[in-house]
Amino acid sequence: MRYYFICNWKMYPSSFGKARALLADYNKFFTPTKKENWINKKIVVCPSAPFFQLFDEKRTHTIKLGSQNIFWKSTGNYTGQISARMAKDFGVEYVIIGHSELRANGDTDILVNLKIKEALKYYITPIVCVGHKDYLRETLNVLNDFSSDEVNKMIFAYEPIEAIGTNNPEDPEKVEKAVRQIKKLIYQRFRKKLFVRMFGLGGNKNNIPKPAILYGGSVNLQNYKKFLSIPDLSGFVVGRESLNPSNIKEIALGFDNSHETR
Ligand code: PGA
Repeated sequence: MRYYFICNWKMYPSSFGKARALLADYNKFFTPTKKENWINKKIVVCPSAPFFQLFDEKRTHTIKLGSQNIFWKSTGNYTGQISARMAKDFGVEYVIIGHSELRANGDTDILVNLKIKEALKYYITPIVCVGHKDYLRETLNVLNDFSSDEVNKMIFAYEPIEAIGTNNPEDPEKVEKAVRQIKKLIYQRFRKKLFVRMFGLGGNKNNIPKPAILYGGSVNLQNYKKFLSIPDLSGFVVGRESLNPSNIKEIALGFDNSHETR
């Protein structure tokens, strides 16, 4: 199993110099030692766009660059927007789409779908957040619009709005239920399509997508262990705690150890 730790820096730190120092810290903590195994783990750092270019400087291979957003068009007269193409040019490999803090500022399901399409067009992995209002409906809106192959190229993040930016993470039982339901929804959605194909053009039984599903919302070093026993949880989206890379490292290594049996 592959694990993802999405480090959403949000609108921090406050200056280029501080961002450079933070990235230097990340490099220090995530340069693998002989004892550590980072092969199945990805640390995806999502800074504000003005800090993208810092990632051109020397960086350890365990750290991937992500964006917190992209616009839904590739180019044009769109003041203040960042296209997937521009992000890609800076080395962005992942993008958070549909974060609650952006849905609160106008991102609808339609825009979320368009942004996912833009990301896929430029081979950027979309990290699709659900949980702003109704995570099942939001998930279904994505599933309805994309093929099995496309869904396989995505990562889903269950991010219940009441847990984001507070100090109240969701109950692990609720996270477990959400992960299970999202998996089931994907299965049901693509089993139907598979059925149609089998009796029509012929189908491939292995065509049910299995995207990674993460949890996000007030995860920190003190509480992350509560989530470790959740089956099929493939990591976390971490906001404020991601400003402390030594804690992220501990979380990432701890996560792996307790999931070895899965
Ligand atoms: P938080 O943010 O960890 O600060 O709650 C989570 C997120 O941005 O998804």
